[in-house]
Amino acid sequence: MIRRACATLIGLLAALGAQARPPIGADMTGDWVVTAAPSNPGVRLLHIARAANGVTGTITSDWYGELPMLDVTTEPAALSFSIYNGNPRIARMRFRFAQVGSQWHLTGAGRRGSSDAPAHRATGAELARLTFHAAPLPPLRELPDDGLARTPPMGWSSWNKFEAAIDDVTVRATADAMVRSGLRDAGYHYVNIDDGWQGARDAQGILHPNARFPDMKALADYVHARGLKIGIYSSPGPKTCAGFPGSYGHAAQDAKTFAAWGIDYLKYDLCSGEGFFNTAESVRATYQEMGAALRATGRPIVYSLCEYGRFDVGAWGRKVGGHLWRTTRDITDDYGNMAGIGFESDGMPDHAGPGGWNDPDMLEIGNGGMTADEERTHLVLWAMQAAPLMLGNDLTTAAPATLALLSNRAVIVIDQDRLGVQGRRASIDRATEVWTKMLADGTTAVALFNRADKAQDVVAVWRQIGLADDGAVHDVWTGTDTPHPGTNYTARVPARGVVLLIVRPPSQRQIVG
Ligand code: GLA
Repeated sequence: MIRRACATLIGLLAALGAQARPPIGADMTGDWVVTAAPSNPGVRLLHIARAANGVTGTITSDWYGELPMLDVTTEPAALSFSIYNGNPRIARMRFRFAQVGSQWHLTGAGRRGSSDAPAHRATGAELARLTFHAAPLPPLRELPDDGLARTPPMGWSSWNKFEAAIDDVTVRATADAMVRSGLRDAGYHYVNIDDGWQGARDAQGILHPNARFPDMKALADYVHARGLKIGIYSSPGPKTCAGFPGSYGHAAQDAKTFAAWGIDYLKYDLCSGEGFFNTAESVRATYQEMGAALRATGRPIVYSLCEYGRFDVGAWGRKVGGHLWRTTRDITDDYGNMAGIGFESDGMPDHAGPGGWNDPDMLEIGNGGMTADEERTHLVLWAMQAAPLMLGNDLTTAAPATLALLSNRAVIVIDQDRLGVQGRRASIDRATEVWTKMLADGTTAVALFNRADKAQDVVAVWRQIGLADDGAVHDVWTGTDTPHPGTNYTARVPARGVVLLIVRPPSQRQIVG
């Protein structure tokens, strides 16, 4: 009798519980280890719990740490959910966790195609090993100016040409080529190793280079001995964009390692950190953490922020110790992409100036995807915007014409002008644009761009672009001078090309003679 009453009560409670918490079929609540999942995003743990309105959970991956399961739906013995990695340009990844026979599986459509990975209930030891430990972020503050990068940094970076296939031998050969070609003497001083140099962390957490970089200190010495500086790359996330170890949880330790090697420049690329540094405050705090860590080493290190222009980075880039900050998506070696970045994504010009620069990404000149006129447009657009000039081609095999363009002193002088004004579009007429950049000596650089597919005249009307009538005009490429151009100046500009002028105001005539 009593037993029957108890059974009825249990049955009633179960029914009530089932109503309050929708059934999720076979019991899948708890912690699960996912084995052999694809390395990106590298799912390793699932945590599933009942919630008032159904099921809730988190997913732990090597790339993004622990992220909430979103848009959860359940079926008998199955659960589907999405994750958002903080990048608005990447679609949410959708996963399904389901029992097939006696085995649980996580299937998914990740960034590298679909996958199917088995899962089992986690033991305490596995949980301890695989749980992601969130590293605390520092409170926001402002780092003082350290006097570096008074003009936009110039150098070379391995990524655009070599991607992750970079090694010690290539870096040394590049340093030699920079000296031999005259590029160093033209102002290109940094030899930067981008993604792909990293090996693994040791038991103390110290990050070591991979086998392609047998001795970073020796490499830095080699580069320094040639009158050049050396740069390296990391990420505030657990993984870099190419899947190498990032500095997550190791910022101070990595800064010390870099300084001990003799590193002079760090590009810090958000990459997998976008999963959890996805608010203005958290992304700023993580960049500040590394900025302060670099300062604490006592070594002058130029700090390049690469978070693709999110959260108005130019407004706080200097405050976290940054000297340049990417304002754009990645450049590729074609005119359409380059022009899209160069003409349309120029950051906020007012944020640029001595000590801090908008960075529209590294150059693609010499990589073969653009015509000579398109490459000239590329370089002039960057110089007019006081952009960092990071060469992205193979300097050991660069053609003479490429080297001549890259070392054009007149263009470099415009880029490196000590006033540090970022030039802007002053007038636009269909596919023609006139840009101006004020220079320290009172002259103005004027670029006449033709974005059309055939040659056409481009007209600069002085009053319209903020200049006085009748300033003396010097054409940088042809060397021709037009002392009295009147109210405007017209140039025939090749398809997707540019004519670059230096305009001296009438008031300076007597000074120049
Ligand atoms: C990102 C950056 C690139 C390059 C790669 C390396 O895509 O924007 O400039 O550093 O990562 O993986």
